[in-house]
Amino acid sequence: MLEPTPENISQAAALLGEGKLVAFPTETVYGLGADARNDSAVAAVYAAKGRPAFNPLIIHFSDAEAAGETVVFDDRAWRLAAAFWPGALTLVLKRRDTCLVSLLASAGLDTLAVRVPHHPVAHALLEQAGFPIAAPSANRSGRISPTAAEHVLADLGDRVAAIIDGGPSRVGIESTVVDLSGEEAALLRPGGIPTADIEAIIGPLVVADSDASAPKSPGMLSRHYAPAIPIRINAPSANPGEALLAFGPGVKNRHVNLSRKGDLQEAAANLFAMLHMLDQPGFAGIAVMPIPERGLGIAINDRLRRAAASDKT
Ligand code: TXA
Ligand code: MG
Repeated sequence: MLEPTPENISQAAALLGEGKLVAFPTETVYGLGADARNDSAVAAVYAAKGRPAFNPLIIHFSDAEAAGETVVFDDRAWRLAAAFWPGALTLVLKRRDTCLVSLLASAGLDTLAVRVPHHPVAHALLEQAGFPIAAPSANRSGRISPTAAEHVLADLGDRVAAIIDGGPSRVGIESTVVDLSGEEAALLRPGGIPTADIEAIIGPLVVADSDASAPKSPGMLSRHYAPAIPIRINAPSANPGEALLAFGPGVKNRHVNLSRKGDLQEAAANLFAMLHMLDQPGFAGIAVMPIPERGLGIAINDRLRRAAASDKT
């Protein structure tokens, strides 16, 4: 548990740079932070939270310009950023081709949720780090969001390298999430900035499915990443023409392997990058070897099942 002194904030930034997890205060709730560019650090976030699925994470930036280098801002996005950043608003926008943020952090989507937090400690940490920080709320899956360092200590104390204590969160509920990746601006999650204040700037918002990461309608499902070629899961081996996405030891070296050691955190870190790599028109499909249904394997299998099912819709 660290007091928010400049030395401690530098130390926390260094820990993040080494791929460790650091919980830090924001004005909404405390975040469980990881270097957003580092696949294995992002995998560690999902492991620490015990998430049964890979919900896309919010990526935090020190200022709007840095966010604008990572995702494509349109006029609506710049106007909202000018009005509410730094603050409790998250914008979902298209990733740039040059975007260095881990595909796992956005669950393989071609969009990214970005936010510039207002809390001075969060801001100092982002400035010191010099890279974007992926951070969901710093609670285990299914528990309530933490608004004090003590909440994080009780829930995740054994799973983080450090917790920066910045006092109670002023806003106390998560940021408002607005999707600007399409024509119509959509409210994905009500939160710290009132919807009416946002509508006063960009006009009416359509209300999307409240949990964009667990879509119920096929229309929402199609928004999620699925390879263009068919996926076959629980495949012991590849059929002729198929690429094999292997898992575990004892598989020929020429095959792309999620984790030769059979390590589920390493497999999670590699999942989306390897699916993208194998998603080539030269293959008839991707055969994925069985992944154990435990730990992060549950989230990996959730994602693979969705990717396999979306072929049929
Ligand atoms: O206030 C907050 O937003 C806190 C602090 C730490 O910044 N963070 C937070 O993160 O609440 P998290 O991961 O618990 O919530 C992320 C929300 C989820 O509802 C997720 O589905 C949505 O943002 N989201 C993230 N990326 C998205 C994307 N590319 N497309 C659609 N929704 C996305
Ligand atoms: Mg949360």
